[in-house]
Amino acid sequence: MQHEQRRFCVLILAAGKGTRMRSKTPKVLHKIMEEPLLYYPLSELKFAGFNDISVMVGFSGETVEEWTKNEFPEINVLWQREQLGTGHAAKLAQDWWKDFENVVILPGDTPLIRAVTLQKFIDTHIDKNNSCSFLSFDLTDPTGYGRVIRDGMSVRIVEHKDATPDERKCREVNSGMYVFNTGALSAVIDDLNCMNSQKEYYLPDAVALIEKNGGRTDAVKAPDPTEFLGINDPNQLADAAAVMKKRILDKWMGMGVRCNDPVSIWIGPRVSLGEDTEIQPNVQIWGETSIGSACRIGSFTVLQDSVLEDNVEIVGSVRIKKSRVGENSIIGPFVFIRDGAELHQNVHVGRFVEIKKSIVRKGAKVPHLSYVGDADIGEHTNIGAGTITCNYDGEKKNFTKIGNNCFVGSDTMFVAPVTIGNNVVTAAGSVITQDIPEGALGVARARQKNIEGWSSRRKIHKGGN
Ligand code: UD1
Ligand code: MG
Repeated sequence: MQHEQRRFCVLILAAGKGTRMRSKTPKVLHKIMEEPLLYYPLSELKFAGFNDISVMVGFSGETVEEWTKNEFPEINVLWQREQLGTGHAAKLAQDWWKDFENVVILPGDTPLIRAVTLQKFIDTHIDKNNSCSFLSFDLTDPTGYGRVIRDGMSVRIVEHKDATPDERKCREVNSGMYVFNTGALSAVIDDLNCMNSQKEYYLPDAVALIEKNGGRTDAVKAPDPTEFLGINDPNQLADAAAVMKKRILDKWMGMGVRCNDPVSIWIGPRVSLGEDTEIQPNVQIWGETSIGSACRIGSFTVLQDSVLEDNVEIVGSVRIKKSRVGENSIIGPFVFIRDGAELHQNVHVGRFVEIKKSIVRKGAKVPHLSYVGDADIGEHTNIGAGTITCNYDGEKKNFTKIGNNCFVGSDTMFVAPVTIGNNVVTAAGSVITQDIPEGALGVARARQKNIEGWSSRRKIHKGGN
């Protein structure tokens, strides 16, 4: 049965310090695949269609709140100023969740949970008419997790630190993901106490209390333990990154992306890739990057928040950040393109070139050893090796405009601001400080003088023969 989502709200617990991370960064903002842990459950919930979501923040809460408001502005932020445990966090959110029929409570430190698993879990909660359901799973090494102790029909959770040696042998553990009927939770939330080894209010204790009140409680066992890996230390962070990395690559390979060495390729969760695209070993693709079809991404390339249209070839060792590359372009090797650069179709940028905040129009070429910054390069213009747009005058950045079909001689310096018309040629080694009109040759260099016989005169002067 499909659940009616308006009857549900979701509370994510993200107030904890994450002591075991030994870091000043709050745990839920530590990253896997370049996105904070909190990104993952929030995007899965969004994907599953939940609208009423709150995040409980506390430790370094301002940073977590700021990130949440930037990335998921529709999500509500609640505060737990003092972190007295997961039960205390749930209690502080009561004014918010009491208006819904059910509250789903999830930890902010389990990024591998999938929307489909949550949906099935919620459907089970409704079908069985439970007052409280929680997801459990089996682990070969359950150390650290709350153990699920079943006794006939009844079930309770005992935290690792409070468990007896016999209870610790139990391999079925609590995922920290619950659905509570809000009436049933309200009836017991004030009865939680902190008489335990950690002196914290434990949310898992609510399960036994609800059962005592006559409510139906149920541990719903999930088949895939990897979805519940909780991140408490840097080792678990790396384990989760490895799982997420493989999950993302498997998805893209299923959609026609070829990777001969997937182990060495890192693709962030917000990236999109077109079919028939090939990615060579040791490539990283991050952020909102979108890559078209039939592209080839060469080794040692890092792409971030950029768009590559169809049939682009990145030869290798290229870094592209916040920029766009038009179809059929060839880029690299050893190229850095950044800060809103826009390369139109059939552009060639090669070997040791940096392009910043510039437009390179259709069919233009910047093949070797150049810096192009704050510039507009016209269609089919060829920029010779060693060309530099001298855009910075020590105070501000200035603009260089170069027309269509120009031939820029090697080692030309364009001292911006400067405007070059269409069909212009510049002589190699020119320092261009004035505009050049359409069709002209710009020469700006000292005239060469040859001094005849100079070498032999120098040898005599030095006493040679
Ligand atoms: C918790 C469960 C445990 C379960 C495990 C699964 C409790 C007491 N134990 O243990 O049964 O097996 O998750 O991963 O709940 N948090 C707050 N406020 C607080 C304390 C924690 O918001 O005062 C948040 C944390 O930021 C974290 C989540 O709650 O995202 C879980 O807290 P954590 O300290 O990681 O609990 P675990 O020891 O992992
Ligand atoms: Mg945890």
